Amino acid sequence: MEEISEEEPSVPLGLRSLKTGIICNLKHAASGSANVPDDEAEFDNPATVGAICKSLSKYGVESEIIEADSFICDNIRKSGIEIAFNIAEGKGGRDREAQVPALLGIAGIPYTGSDAAALSIALDKALCKRLVASYGVRTAGYRVISPGMETSLAGIHYPVIVKPNAEGSGKGISECCVAESEEELSGILKGEFSIYGEDALVEEYLPGREFTVGLLGNGENVRVFPPMEIIYKGNTQRNYKVYSYKVKCGYAEYVDYKCPAELSDDALKEMTIASKTVFNALGCHDISRMDFRMDAMGHPCFLEINPLPGLAPGYSDFPMIAAACGIDYDSLIYEIYKTAVMRLGL
Ligand SMILES: Nc1ncnc2c1ncn2[C@@H]1O[C@H](COP(=O)(O)OP(=O)(O)OP(=O)(O)O)[C@@H](O)[C@H]1O
Ligand SMILES: [Mg+2]
Repeated sequence: MEEISEEEPSVPLGLRSLKTGIICNLKHAASGSANVPDDEAEFDNPATVGAICKSLSKYGVESEIIEADSFICDNIRKSGIEIAFNIAEGKGGRDREAQVPALLGIAGIPYTGSDAAALSIALDKALCKRLVASYGVRTAGYRVISPGMETSLAGIHYPVIVKPNAEGSGKGISECCVAESEEELSGILKGEFSIYGEDALVEEYLPGREFTVGLLGNGENVRVFPPMEIIYKGNTQRNYKVYSYKVKCGYAEYVDYKCPAELSDDALKEMTIASKTVFNALGCHDISRMDFRMDAMGHPCFLEINPLPGLAPGYSDFPMIAAACGIDYDSLIYEIYKTAVMRLGL
């Protein structure tokens, strides 16, 4: 590690001062409630981006905010940034999270977090499940149904949950997306779900406990945080418990969180190994969050990986996990940045 130079006293741990940009997609509607239009659900609140900026600043890293809009190429060039703290969700399609890393790649600007390939695979849930299963990680049975196509569900057991194959933040998912029969499934696919105009991931409903696992670091040394359990308070519309966009927005009413979750040694080991395996199978970098749900036998099954997890202070799961492990918000943000800077050898 470099010596801390006398000219740069505010930057700890020997990191060279780098011109830094936080690249993001901002919510432009009133946000933080169920009134937010679904299509901006994945975008960040200006307050979140402000908090990241402030946290970096506390560690001596001054940053500017660059929106990932249609002017991004010009704005990146004009900014002269040497590294991007990337939280941009991108716009449209299953490659949307890959858009900013791809642009930064061609501009030769290093960035925090995973590359375009890892982000694209993660966003296509079915593709990711196929990859994950090939590493022996347990995941629920599923089929993909393209709009207007018939697909046999032979071998898949009801109830099933219907999810847009490439959305996040609980978009298009609720307890009303659980079908107990072919007739109900057909009704769901023809109903509100069709507004997404994309493939449906029809997955066996896992009735057990739900967990989310945070990871920070790289390769074999990636730190796997203890799983955080999402405990439903029971006030759901049907008997199904789904961590939907509505539940996420109104979490205090619907769920409690427990980190570390109370788990048997076997379940903890399985989730820890699975998390690390998936992180490295996709070639993720610096940070990710992985969701699991137990089957009827109590075996944890992989649901999905989020290599760009939400970082809203006091709201998103990852900062809650970090806080439960004694890492405050500022330290978490700086840790993500520092992990990337070290990996990139800057
Ligand atoms: N197979 C399943 N069985 C039971 N519940 C499920 C299943 N798949 C998803 N769910 C429920 O739906 C929620 C959202 O699913 P998933 O994590 O795939 O979507 P997402 O929109 O990508 O989430 P995120 O907000 O984490 O990006 C899960 O947290 C879980 O509560
Ligand atoms: Mg999820």
